[in-house]
Amino acid sequence: MSTPPSNTVPTIELNDGHGIPQLGFGVFQTPPKETATAVGLAFEAGYRHVDTAEMYGNEGGVGDALRASGLDRADVFITSKLNNGFHEPDDARKAIADTLTELGSDYVDLFLIHWPLPTLYGGDYVSTWKVLEEFQRDGRARSIGVSNFQVEHLERLAAESDVVPAVNQIELHPNFHNAEVDAYGREHGIATQAWAPLAEGMLLGDPVLSDIAGRLGKSPAQVVIRWHIQRGNIVFPKSVTPARIIENFDVFDFALEPADVQSIDALDRGEAGRNGPDPSTFAYIP
Ligand SMILES: NC(=O)c1ccc[n+]([C@@H]2O[C@H](COP(=O)([O-])OP(=O)(O)OC[C@H]3O[C@@H](n4cnc5c(N)ncnc54)[C@H](OP(=O)(O)O)[C@@H]3O)[C@@H](O)[C@H]2O)c1
Repeated sequence: MSTPPSNTVPTIELNDGHGIPQLGFGVFQTPPKETATAVGLAFEAGYRHVDTAEMYGNEGGVGDALRASGLDRADVFITSKLNNGFHEPDDARKAIADTLTELGSDYVDLFLIHWPLPTLYGGDYVSTWKVLEEFQRDGRARSIGVSNFQVEHLERLAAESDVVPAVNQIELHPNFHNAEVDAYGREHGIATQAWAPLAEGMLLGDPVLSDIAGRLGKSPAQVVIRWHIQRGNIVFPKSVTPARIIENFDVFDFALEPADVQSIDALDRGEAGRNGPDPSTFAYIP
C-alpha cells in the first residue's frame, strides 16, 4: 500500500505510555461480510486505528483487511472489547484468545470491558478488570481500559485495583457531552473515547452545524469530528460509504473558531441527549 494521503492525525499519549491515533475508524453495525472492504477503504484513506468488539462479530473482517493491506501490524492500532457474556475470569481468558485468533494477531493494542453491567455478576466488574490487568502483563493487550463506566464504577476500580484504565469509551457528541464522566476521566488521567461521535448521524441535519459547515466549505460531519478533535477526544466515526470514509478523515486542514465551538457546545441537552443505553442499568447479554 502507498503512503497514506495524510499523516496529520495527532497521537494521544495514554497513561501507560502508549500512543493512540486520535482519529480512527469504527465498525459497530458494519455487517461482518462488509467489514474487510470498509476497513480496507479506511486504510487506503489513511486511517491507522480501528475500533471493533467481540459483540460486533466482525473482528475477523478487521484481521482480513489488515492482512490484505500489506501494512505492518505495528503501524495499525486495533481496539477490541470483552463481550458482556464473558465477565467471569475464565470466560474472559478464553474470549481474548478468540479475539486474537479472529484478528490473526498475537496482541491487541487496546482491550476494553465493553459495559460495566453493575446489575449482573453480583456487581463485580473489579474481578473482570483484574483479568484485563493479567492480559496487559502477559503482553496480549498493550493497553487496557473500560467502556461505559460511570464515575462510581471508576471510583470503585481506583479503590480496589492497581491499574488505572487507559481510556473510558463513552457516548459523547454535541447533543450529549457526558460531562461528569468526561471530567472525572480527564482529572484522573483516563483518556476519553467518544462513541457515536456523530450521534449515529442523527444530529447532522442541525441548522447550527449546516451553517458552520456552509461557511467553512466542509460537511456537518467534518465539523462535528473537528469539534471532537479540538476537545481532545479520541474518535472513530463509522461508515460503510466510501465517500464518507474519506470525508470523515479529511478534518485536519481547518479549525473551528471559538465562537463556532461555543455554538456547537450549546447543542448539549444533558441526559436527554443520550441515545444509547444507560450504563447503570444496561444488562444485555447477546
Ligand atoms: N463502546 C460502546 O459501547 C460503543 C457503542 C457504540 C459505538 N461504539 C464505537 O463507536 C463507533 C462510532 O459510533 P457509531 O457507529 O455508533 O455512530 P457514529 O459514528 O456516530 O455514526 C455512524 C452513522 O453515521 C453515518 N455517517 C457516517 N459518516 C457520515 C457522514 N460523513 N455524513 C453523513 N452520515 C454519516 C453512518 O452511515 P453509513 O455507514 O451508512 O455511511 C452511520 O449510520 C462505532 O462504530 C464503534 O466502534 C462503541
